[in-house]
Amino acid sequence: MPDWVIIVLIVTNIVTLAALYFATRRMLKLRRQKRRAFAFRSYPIRQVKLEAVDPCFAITEHGPAPASTVAFIGGEGVVASLSDRETWVIAGLAKSARRVFEFGTCSGKTAHVMALNTPDDAEIHTLTIHPDDLANLEFGSSDDRHHQGQAATEAAFTTFYYQGHPTEVKIQQIFSDSKAYDETPLKGGIDLVFIDGAHTSSYVESDTAKAMVMLSERGVVLWHDYKPDAPDVFNFLNALAKELALIHIKDTDIVMYRRG
Ligand SMILES: C[S@@+](CC[C@H](N)C(=O)[O-])C[C@H]1O[C@@H](n2cnc3c(N)ncnc32)[C@H](O)[C@@H]1O
Repeated sequence: MPDWVIIVLIVTNIVTLAALYFATRRMLKLRRQKRRAFAFRSYPIRQVKLEAVDPCFAITEHGPAPASTVAFIGGEGVVASLSDRETWVIAGLAKSARRVFEFGTCSGKTAHVMALNTPDDAEIHTLTIHPDDLANLEFGSSDDRHHQGQAATEAAFTTFYYQGHPTEVKIQQIFSDSKAYDETPLKGGIDLVFIDGAHTSSYVESDTAKAMVMLSERGVVLWHDYKPDAPDVFNFLNALAKELALIHIKDTDIVMYRRG
């Protein structure tokens, strides 16, 4: 084979490898930014359109029914914010909830939004780990390491979005490791539970067991971060869906269970 052919082959291979390298880097970056992009795994939990989730989201000839109107704040600049669609879903469901429990307060924006939309006499209990208590987190040996770190990073808040707003009177802030929290005084009394605390197997399992104790007869549980990027939550919910009638709300990372 002539020398020039060998040189052309070498150069072509180098260019191809470089192109592959940059394309992969770009794809991984986009994946991080877009969270769900390039997630090739299938989502086993049955996906349901929002209008079938609750009558308040019914679609009319003009679009979503007026009953889906909520008081709303976008997620710009908010740490670990839900998407705007997810905030709308939670705010809509909160309109018919008298008692709400949130695992994972973070900035307190979702607690504030839920308080804005619940009836006047509603109570919102929201639980978070205090930054001074991070050493007390009780991760299991098989808990996803990346999300162990994230739980600590997101526990940066000791003041919250709702403070100084009229919603504050409805909100009871609880500082506790969720595993150490005693849920029994709220047994059977919570209409809407939102599970968005530590995204690791042992915590999502423990938070779910506590949610089921607190849930009222027709109560609703919502889990955030049903996506392959949060593998412990994703795998836990896929297994739970074999026992409970869970649904995945379309175009969100929310899974829902309604009792009764
Ligand atoms: C994803 S953020 C919650 C976002 C919030 N639900 C919202 O919608 O704005 C997770 C929160 O859970 C808290 N957290 C993590 N592990 C926890 C634990 N073991 N017990 C209590 N809170 C925990 C973190 O401190 C953080 O505030």
